[in-house]
Amino acid sequence: MLTSGLRYGKQILSRSFRGKPQIRSLGALRPKSGSDYRHYKNAFGLFAVSSVVLAGITVFSPLVLNDNPRVVSKKELSTHSTEDDCWISINGKVYDLSGFARKHPGGTNPILKYAGSDASRIFNSLHAPGLIATALTPDLVVGEYLDSGDETTDLEELEKQESMSNKPPLSRIFNLNDFEKVARQVLSEYALAYYATGSDDEVTLGENHNAYHRVFFKPRVLVNVAQIDTSTSLLGTPTSVPFYVSAAARAKLGHEDGELAIAKGAGREDVIQMISTVASYPLDEITAVARPGQSQWFQLYVNADPEHTRSLMEKFNNTACLKGLFITVDTACLGNRETDRRGHFEELSFPVDDEGFPVRNVANSVASSLMDTGLVWDDIARFRAMTSKPIVLKGIQCVDDVLKAIDAGVDGVVLSNHGGRNLDFSPPPLQVLADLQPVLKEKGLEGKIEIFIDGGVRRGTDILKALCLGATGVGLGRPFLYSVSGYGEAGVVKAIQILKDELEISMRLLGVTKISDLTPEHVDVRQLRVAEAGKL
Ligand code: HEM
Ligand SMILES: Cc1cc2nc3c(=O)[nH]c(=O)nc-3n(C[C@H](O)[C@H](O)[C@H](O)COP(=O)(O)O)c2cc1C
Repeated sequence: MLTSGLRYGKQILSRSFRGKPQIRSLGALRPKSGSDYRHYKNAFGLFAVSSVVLAGITVFSPLVLNDNPRVVSKKELSTHSTEDDCWISINGKVYDLSGFARKHPGGTNPILKYAGSDASRIFNSLHAPGLIATALTPDLVVGEYLDSGDETTDLEELEKQESMSNKPPLSRIFNLNDFEKVARQVLSEYALAYYATGSDDEVTLGENHNAYHRVFFKPRVLVNVAQIDTSTSLLGTPTSVPFYVSAAARAKLGHEDGELAIAKGAGREDVIQMISTVASYPLDEITAVARPGQSQWFQLYVNADPEHTRSLMEKFNNTACLKGLFITVDTACLGNRETDRRGHFEELSFPVDDEGFPVRNVANSVASSLMDTGLVWDDIARFRAMTSKPIVLKGIQCVDDVLKAIDAGVDGVVLSNHGGRNLDFSPPPLQVLADLQPVLKEKGLEGKIEIFIDGGVRRGTDILKALCLGATGVGLGRPFLYSVSGYGEAGVVKAIQILKDELEISMRLLGVTKISDLTPEHVDVRQLRVAEAGKL
């Protein structure tokens, strides 16, 4: 078994000197028992470290001889590991983040966790390459990092490469659930935990989708369905389909092109993409890859710092392809996302004190620095005055709040519980939609604002059910994260094409030819209502 370790070590060596390794079967190299694993790890570590050091010396020898720029070793880096003396290496450069740590928009903890060490891998999975140049001043560069890369990084990287190369070709992907299966295979543990998590017992997460199973169609036959038209208009923007890509943070965790790949795939298929405030790429980089005429929306987390929000609004107003503002109102703080916390991110947000006692951190630091917990209905007028583009409130979870939104003068609402990630036992949005329609009708408010919905939508039939019940547009979050994680832009295109196919087939079989044909008379919601009354 030691041989396995040696062979593995050689793979790393060859990678360091000759570029990308050609790993055929990592599984065959993996140790079978605990003691095998120790040998394997030791041998692996020895080769990996020596190869990295050799490579480092080869690459940086001119720098070692020359004082300018300065070279920092792993050992020296590790001596700067406190809040007041905080050096971090990212992509071959060492930065002094002592002052920045407290100002880091993602909170101090993530930076402190990596103080005195190399944070390239986590940085690259969360942030765009250009972020350092825009967020840090050049004087914070201490020098070049001598010991770039370590064995853990390489091991995880190789495992990811292996599962990527073993994934099925796109031609074997038949529905959105297939994308999720592939994502579960190729994503790192913490990326999967971040994407898949719901809050608490994940009841809402499950019910979001289950609610669609409680609605049946009332199909009409002998209708001429030779021509099907799925196109519609959302917030005044024509689009090929009544669904859109909902905002999701950190798409780069799953694929290095993250939101850029989603933007390109959506543009190719004429589908609207909603861009998150906390996307891994800066807003202007994502809008820059939009095709001429492509429409995108901007999702806003209202920052506690009004100046920050004002500058985001200015960008939004000045970017022509951004056709709508979606203010997220369901995230006064992040939900208790336990699956996520069990992944690597728990250390980032839930620290311990010097004596090892846990520090209580109910209002998650990331949420509290990025979101204004004091946001109230009266503030909506402020946003109305800041833009002439349509405003939609994202995260409405009951009928009363839809009525308040109409009073507040917004153009739409998204019935959403953040994909089951915030308040567990928030109702499935489809149920809220079914409750809403009779109320709007009774009050003569039908069509007054656009009603969007998201959460648990995985099939063309789900989209049709929501439209029958009065939704204007339907959003999907995780399916696009999963499709981009496995296959990049091509995955996004395929996911959209699958939904388009499912929509067309189901419309034909339902006996409708265009989106405006869909009415409440096309669905039977009795089971949804029985469930509501507690009789199921
Ligand atoms: C030079 C280093 C860094 C800079 C300049 C930086 C900058 C930023 C900025 C500007 C944000 C706000 C959101 C955005 O615009 O993307 C942010 C958020 C965040 N950062 Fe960093 N960051 C750095 C290093 C790190 C590291 C090493 C970690 C490691 C864990 C990290 C984790 C996060 C997290 C978790 C967020 C919260 C936003 C989210 O939910 O995605 N950052 N950072
Ligand atoms: C990983 C992940 C990140 C998300 N990030 C955001 C975000 O930054 N802003 C936001 O308003 N909603 C965010 N959402 C919620 C989605 O926009 C959407 O409401 C939800 O994913 C819909 O549920 P679905 O994933 O079942 O389709 C996120 C959802 C996920 C799964």
